Amino acid sequence: MPCELCDDTGWKAVTANGVRRVVRCDCWRQGATTRLLDDARIPPRYRGCDLETFLTYPNDKLTAAVRRARRFAEEFPGGEAARKGLCLIGPPGIGKTHLAVAVLRRVILTRGARGLFYDTRDLLRVIRSTYDPSIRTTELEILRPVMKADLLVLDDLGAEKTSEWVEETMNLIVNTRYNERRATIFTSNYMDIPDDTDPNSLLFRIGVRMRSRLHEMCEFIQMDGADYRELPANGGVDDLVTLWKMRRKTLPSRAGRTARAQLREPAVRDGRADLKWPGGRAGS
Ligand SMILES: Nc1ncnc2c1ncn2[C@@H]1O[C@H](COP(=O)(O)OP(=O)(O)OP(=O)(O)O)[C@@H](O)[C@H]1O
Ligand SMILES: [Mg+2]
Ligand SMILES: [Zn+2]
Repeated sequence: MPCELCDDTGWKAVTANGVRRVVRCDCWRQGATTRLLDDARIPPRYRGCDLETFLTYPNDKLTAAVRRARRFAEEFPGGEAARKGLCLIGPPGIGKTHLAVAVLRRVILTRGARGLFYDTRDLLRVIRSTYDPSIRTTELEILRPVMKADLLVLDDLGAEKTSEWVEETMNLIVNTRYNERRATIFTSNYMDIPDDTDPNSLLFRIGVRMRSRLHEMCEFIQMDGADYRELPANGGVDDLVTLWKMRRKTLPSRAGRTARAQLREPAVRDGRADLKWPGGRAGS
C-alpha cells in the first residue's frame, strides 16, 4: 500500500506560517533510519540491545558506565560528553558489547548518524583478505566506511595479538578518526595496566603507541560485574548480585587478603572459578 502522505514519492507538502513547501516524508525518514541500521553491521545477537533493557544492580562501576554511555548518546555529536570516545574494559559477559551497541543504535535512531560496528579481528581479517601489495593500506576501499563513520564501535580490542602489520593498520584507522574528530567506542577484555610484559595487559596486546593514542581519544571506563551469560533463563537482579559476588571472590590478586580468606569457602572452592579474569581471553 503506498504511503498516504506522499504516495511513495518520499516528499510531502507542509504549510508553515502560511507558506507551503515540500519536505521529506516521515516514511522516507523511517526508511533512511532502517537503512542506516542495516548498514551498521550490528551482529544479529545484539540488534535488540538498548540502554533501556540493560539491567543494573547495586554495582557502582556498572551503573556509572551505563550513566556515562547514556550521556555520550544524549550529547552526540558535539556535546562535551561525546567529545571523546569510550573504552569499555572488563571481564567477559558483563555487557560491554551490549552497552557499546546500545549507544550506537541510539545515535543512529535519534541523530541519523552513520554508525558502524566491527569486531576488531573481523576487521583485520577483511583488510587482510583484500590486501593488495600494489595498493597502499591508506587507499583501501574497505577502510573508507571505517574511517568515515560518525561513530565506530571496535569490539574486542586486543583479541588479536599485535604484530607490526596489525599495529600499523590499527594505528592508521585510529589516527585518521582521531584527526578528523570522529568518535570511536572500544571494548576490551584486557586490563589497562602499565606492564608491557604481562600478556594479559592491554599494553602488551596493542602496543605502546596505540595505547597512548587511545588514552588521548577515549575515556577509559573500567567495568566489573556478573557474567550475564551465566544467568539462569528465569534469573533476575538477585542472581546477578550473587554471580557477581562469587566472581569477586575468585579474584584474590585484586580483592586482597579478605578475598583470599574467602577462597576457602566451599562454594568458591567447588564453584566455577573464572580464570579468564584477570587475564581476558589470552587463549583465544
Ligand atoms: N546488564 C545486562 N542487562 C541485560 N543484558 C545483558 C547485560 N549484560 C549482558 N547482557 C547480555 O548478555 C550477553 C553478553 O553480554 P556482552 O556480549 O555485552 O558481554 P561482553 O562484556 O561484551 O563480553 P565479552 O568480553 O565476552 O565480549 C549479551 O547477550 C548481552 O545482551
Ligand atoms: Mg563483547
Ligand atoms: Zn511517505
